[in-house]
Amino acid sequence: MRALAPAAPRASAPAAAAPRAPAARPSVRTLAAASRLSGVEMAPPDPILGVSEAFKRSSDPNKLNLGVGAYRTEELQPLVLDVVKKAEAKMLAAGYNKEYLPIEGLDSFRKATVDLLLGADHPAIKQDRVVCIQALSGTGALRVGAAFIGKFMPGTKVFISNPTWGNHMNIFGDERVEWAKYRYFDPETVGLDFAGMTADLEAAPDGSVVLLHGCAHNPTGVDPTPEQWKAIAELCKRKGHLPFFDVAYQGFATGDLDKDAFAPRLFVDSGLEVVVAQSYSKNLGLYGERVGALNLVLADAESAKRVLSQLKRIARALWSNPPTHGARIAAEVVGDPAMFEEWKGEMAGMAGRIAKVRGELRAALEARCPEKDWSFVTKQIGMFSYTGMSPKQVDNMTNKHAVFMTRDGRISLAGLSSAKVAALADGIVDSVRNH
Ligand SMILES: Cc1ncc(COP(=O)(O)O)c(C=O)c1O
Repeated sequence: MRALAPAAPRASAPAAAAPRAPAARPSVRTLAAASRLSGVEMAPPDPILGVSEAFKRSSDPNKLNLGVGAYRTEELQPLVLDVVKKAEAKMLAAGYNKEYLPIEGLDSFRKATVDLLLGADHPAIKQDRVVCIQALSGTGALRVGAAFIGKFMPGTKVFISNPTWGNHMNIFGDERVEWAKYRYFDPETVGLDFAGMTADLEAAPDGSVVLLHGCAHNPTGVDPTPEQWKAIAELCKRKGHLPFFDVAYQGFATGDLDKDAFAPRLFVDSGLEVVVAQSYSKNLGLYGERVGALNLVLADAESAKRVLSQLKRIARALWSNPPTHGARIAAEVVGDPAMFEEWKGEMAGMAGRIAKVRGELRAALEARCPEKDWSFVTKQIGMFSYTGMSPKQVDNMTNKHAVFMTRDGRISLAGLSSAKVAALADGIVDSVRNH
């Protein structure tokens, strides 16, 4: 390990006055043998963030990064929303200190977050049975949820869609929570395998946890229809399953915050207790600020109080107090009617640009390769398109066409511009025809 390696030569260095013989440089072999951690294996590169690293290393002037799910402008630059700049300016003008937040986070942020999730007038809020703890974005919220399940629901299995966002397995696995996959995607129809999904959830032990993507399923872009959501909620009720929603894209699927909260609200309204991890990375563009929350809607206020106390205990050992800056931005934007409207406009703008390049990509693919059905490109929603390309075809995309993407065939349309559509379509058609 790098931190340990220098310690050995320093400890055996000669005293300052002693004649200096040229020190024999310890070979890499000696250093490795000296480390008590020499048995640590290299971790595999992250399948998503590793793509960005490979993209940075490429010197191809036409390279295109469709790996990571981060929004880019038509000029393929990162975007800071105007409303975020406004909220920051207002915060700085008003002045705020850098004191620790409470363990559970900023009150105004937690209120804004629950309002956004359920709608401000939801009876569960008035009945004090909604628990919300600020977390280090969606990932941190999922991690607190996983730790809670591991601690208070021992032996409960978590069922995760196949495929899913790769980090889900890391998060539950690192908390030693047992997980299994349920069928989700049907490559034949490039749509939802609803029969497979419900059969697997039916076969799961009663009282399991079911991880569901609130909207804009990652990586497939395929969501259940409202009727299918109703059937899934009924199934969860009958089986006593606990739904755990991962809401990382509220506002990004349709451009409308309320429409994208349809599924978790439906589950709550049908009387289920639910867990929801929320993230402001995508919809407010606060990727690096790490802003999110874990919510639980429970049956009664008493349980809510006790659960919050335990979530705080978990967070205390993870990060003690959540970060201030991004939470204040989110609270300002959601809490101020004018800024809230402005945000909705900007979000619709981002979702609209993605929908536009989706349409352009489909048209370009149909023009080049009419024998294949490309309608899935516009049927899928959210940031991604799940192209069905094999790892070999993806390698061709990267090696020959300098299109950097994950090996499961997912492309982030948030990273595509109209100007790059033709080149991307050329690459896809070459890859699916010739590899
Ligand atoms: C499905 C899903 N869940 C959660 C996250 C978490 O993101 P963050 O930790 O930035 O909120 C992501 C990010 O890409 C995601 O795609």
